Amino acid sequence: MRRRIAVLASGRGSNLQAVLDAIATGSLDAEIVGVFSDKPAAQALQRVSEPLRWSRDAKSYAAREDFDRELGDAVAACAPDWIVCAGYLRILGDAFVERFSGRLLNIHPSLLPKYRGLRTHARALEAGDEEHGVSVHFVIPALDAGAVIAQARVPVLPGDTTETLSARVLEREHPLLVAVLRLVVAGRLNERGTTVTLDGHTLFTPLHLDCAGRLAPSGHQ
Ligand code: GRF
Repeated sequence: MRRRIAVLASGRGSNLQAVLDAIATGSLDAEIVGVFSDKPAAQALQRVSEPLRWSRDAKSYAAREDFDRELGDAVAACAPDWIVCAGYLRILGDAFVERFSGRLLNIHPSLLPKYRGLRTHARALEAGDEEHGVSVHFVIPALDAGAVIAQARVPVLPGDTTETLSARVLEREHPLLVAVLRLVVAGRLNERGTTVTLDGHTLFTPLHLDCAGRLAPSGHQ
């Protein structure tokens, strides 16, 4: 049975597009059942047909919980197996996270646990890091702190700016997210407490995206 995926996005939606393309070319056996945004003008919404779009202006809600509850009800109504935050820039409240616990994923542009939160590319540059990258992880109430499933690394090059570095990272985000979703829809990945299991075995270190776009245990190229 095709797994049902809901996507939360606040902006451009290039990660969503990578997932849509993988579905269209048959390399990901899944279905996008809804795209949800806290920003009605988000470009991400335009990437799917009108009936799949849901958006509300989060700023027009007095309390975070009210927005989250409506969002959660709308997500639940499309009966997703998995919910993916792909460039969703609003913090999700604990109640939302707990409601969808174990099937809520996020893509974050840093090599977690480094640089939780915002300005990840600038912070990597400021720290003089030689390497930067992107992580896909399970979402827990603490920000960007859930169990990391997989990462892709990129070099930081001399003369890099936040623009050049973020573009290099973004190129790896798309295959990373699709590769993780392939494992997820095949039922091979699960969250167990604070860890991730692959085929029932605990992952002690995140998987690593190799140059061919395959996920391998860390340390193997
Ligand atoms: C990506 O860098 C993602 O990792 C981060 O926000 C950005 C969203 O890009 N969370 P897009 O909207 O998918 O193009």
